Amino acid sequence: MMNSKVRMMYFLLLCCLAGGCLSVEVHQTPSALIQSPGDKVQLFCTHGRTDYRMMLWYLQPHGDTAMTLIGYLNFKVVKMEESYEQVFNITGDLGGTSAKNASLIFQIQGFEQSAVYYCAAIVRCVNYEAYFGQGTKLTVLEPDHDVTPPTVQVFKPSEKECKVKTLVCVASGFYPDHVSVSWEVDGVTETDSVATDNTALREGKHYSLSSRLTVQSKTWFKPSRTFTCRVSFFNGTDTIDVEDSITGETDSGGMPNDTKMKIMQNAKLTYSVLIAKSFIYGVFIMFLVWKLKGLSGKQSSRERSCGLNN
Ligand SMILES: *[C@@H]1O[C@H](CO)[C@@H](O)[C@H](O)[C@H]1NC(C)=O
Ligand SMILES: *[C@@H]1O[C@H](CO)[C@@H](O)[C@H](O)[C@H]1NC(C)=O
Repeated sequence: MMNSKVRMMYFLLLCCLAGGCLSVEVHQTPSALIQSPGDKVQLFCTHGRTDYRMMLWYLQPHGDTAMTLIGYLNFKVVKMEESYEQVFNITGDLGGTSAKNASLIFQIQGFEQSAVYYCAAIVRCVNYEAYFGQGTKLTVLEPDHDVTPPTVQVFKPSEKECKVKTLVCVASGFYPDHVSVSWEVDGVTETDSVATDNTALREGKHYSLSSRLTVQSKTWFKPSRTFTCRVSFFNGTDTIDVEDSITGETDSGGMPNDTKMKIMQNAKLTYSVLIAKSFIYGVFIMFLVWKLKGLSGKQSSRERSCGLNN
């Protein structure tokens, strides 16, 4: 007969073998939802680890960093957090040896339900990691707000930047804030050196969001190069891509165009002054030569007259 200590160790070892040592891919569907009050919603959470027999559901309200537990499913037993009992329902069966598939069901009551909903899979041992799905972003539409795709514009880098150039992309006038931004340089997706605002800014009934792409200045100074900002907007049924592009510029030696113009004008002026100077100098030399010639002519005639007088 095994004593309880040995049994506990055996159990922990099984736990580790079961899942503590491997990661679990948790899949959530759908990834985004736009709903109105009164709509019924069902979110699915699935994973292939048959030994993970516990599933937790969380919500993260819009703009919040903290997650709140809604409830969980343990084999077939549902345990709801008290404050969510009236609104949410969890269904599923995590027993058996098949892949796990469970759901969170609820009816939309108000805008406060706009949140990102997460499910997490956990093996039934203490201190083991929970594996989260990618989340479902739900927006409950506000009254008199129309679903509107963004307007996208890319702005060229500042002339004051030298070594690196920052291109700015602004998506504006959209509702709700279901957007993602991607950049392409000559058709190749850029992932490094891209910084996109974490949250969209609310302006009245619409949102705006900006994203920045940083490139080496030599990358920017190529007029044949195309820089594209693509904003993918989810409108409730489809994902619509809206994009804008700009092309690189010719290198003006790192100087703003008007400075370059001024320098060119100055150069022209200096050149004209030099030409005028050499012209005046030439005239002066000619004058000297002429003067000297005249002088020697006079002198020889004087000599001649002197000779004649002798
Ligand atoms: C999970 O179950 C639902 C219905 O109960 C089904 O529509 C869905 O396709 C299932 N998902 C997977 C990945 O099996
Ligand atoms: C979403 O986009 C699709 C495709 O462009 C369009 O047919 C549909 O009407 C749009 N839905 C809304 C709510 O705007």
